[in-house]
Amino acid sequence: MLAGGHDEARQGEALLLETAPLKHNGRKLYIESYGCAMNFSDSEIVASIMTDMGFQTTANYKEADVVFINTCSIRENAEQKVRNRLREFGAVKKQNRGLIVGVLGCMAERLKARFLEEEKLVDVVVGPDSYRDLPNLIGTVDDGNKAVNVLLSREETYADISPVRLNSNGITAFVSIMRGCDNMCSFCVVPFTRGRERSRDPHSIVQEARDLFNEGYREVTLLGQNVDSYKWSDEAGTERVNFAGLLELVALISPELRVRFSTSHPKDITDEVLFTIAKHENICNYIHLPVQSGNSRVLDLMNRTYDREWYMERVSAIRRIIPECAISTDVITGFCTETEEEHQETLSMMDYVGYDFAYMFMYSERPGTLAAKRYKDDIPEDVKLRRLQEVVAKQQQHSHERLKLQLGKVQKVLIEGFSKKSKQHYAGRNDHNAMVVFPVNEKYKPGEYAYVLAEECTTATLLGTIVDPS
Ligand code: SAH
Ligand code: SF4
Ligand code: F3S
Repeated sequence: MLAGGHDEARQGEALLLETAPLKHNGRKLYIESYGCAMNFSDSEIVASIMTDMGFQTTANYKEADVVFINTCSIRENAEQKVRNRLREFGAVKKQNRGLIVGVLGCMAERLKARFLEEEKLVDVVVGPDSYRDLPNLIGTVDDGNKAVNVLLSREETYADISPVRLNSNGITAFVSIMRGCDNMCSFCVVPFTRGRERSRDPHSIVQEARDLFNEGYREVTLLGQNVDSYKWSDEAGTERVNFAGLLELVALISPELRVRFSTSHPKDITDEVLFTIAKHENICNYIHLPVQSGNSRVLDLMNRTYDREWYMERVSAIRRIIPECAISTDVITGFCTETEEEHQETLSMMDYVGYDFAYMFMYSERPGTLAAKRYKDDIPEDVKLRRLQEVVAKQQQHSHERLKLQLGKVQKVLIEGFSKKSKQHYAGRNDHNAMVVFPVNEKYKPGEYAYVLAEECTTATLLGTIVDPS
């Protein structure tokens, strides 16, 4: 039997409310996340729902009763990684027949019940808007059946669920402010896997951020696929909050709470948002502004709804309003019909902006997207790869140059913990999101701010020493 449907979701919710808080039911949950920060944030919602059902979380999948894999569909290799990981869970299931394996997230949404046929070890398939139905779905599996719920919602924001922080450093946290995406970038599966865009009630966002601050957290990253289109109003329409307004509300919680956000969309980022960033010292001077391509014809095929000139104008607005702002980007190489000249325009855009950081990808055709339906994936893999390598080489140069500009300057760093390489060094990020590593000073603890003089840098990290704030 396949479970699913809105009614079950409501029942699941009621069950959750009636029985919470349950004592530990003796069962353990292991959850692993792939893809973007939204997925990692969703896993914390899932952990919360499962904890209310009595599950304890474990970091060791071999001792788990339920293994969840929260999946990503953005590129083919992201899906391949999940398939490979399922093989490893399959080996454990051979030893432990009672193990429940669940696939959550974007691949679950894309493949739906087909997943159960393709991957025999999978017991439950749950889309990103159906996590409230987990008590019901797990119940179905406990009864010996397989279960699927991949209904998308126009309202669900999980606003009332307090996430259980997973793998947390206790200092930085993600806060989801919206779900879904209404843009139809032709290459992208997200509108299909995450559904329609909806914004979460700002009161619940501020409350969550304030609670985090009171628990000792010092940085929140507000998450959405397109944060600039955040838009909320109460039912009477008297209270309206846009993204600039939300940023300000969160920034005002405390000057000691750092605020970051991702992702900004070039078509929607307003001067009002830029002025809000400039006004508040605790809103980090860092904007992730994915360009995808530097050529207007390719941007049009991608359905990004801006062109090269528009993007450049937004960058100059950032430089004008927030002179010290770091900018990062996403780039796709070898999109359908992209010529060498058009690829060169991506490289020249990189020179124009001088990005601090970039995520760079070869185009991967995704079933069901506009691009898959309309255009031929006609750039050979070796050409995509060579273009990617050119983009990566340029970015390495720029990242290094941008870091070098910080040398000799004092950085305000939020200490996140020890550096990966040594317990004698602390690591944390500056306002620009650059990693800064420096010798431990007994006067400072993780979760505190330190002023660090940047003295040297590698290609990705600043190295320095703590200086007296005065
Ligand atoms: N909402 C964000 C992007 C989310 S997906 C935005 O609009 O900018 C993260 C990145 O994955 C995208 O910016 C894009 O660069 C990349 N990506 C998405 N679909 C892709 C595909 N089919 N092939 C290669 N890269 C892709
Ligand atoms: Fe995908 Fe475009 Fe939405 Fe970003 S804005 S999630 S790239 S459709
Ligand atoms: Fe991947 Fe879904 Fe995020 S496809 S990038 S996990 S929204």
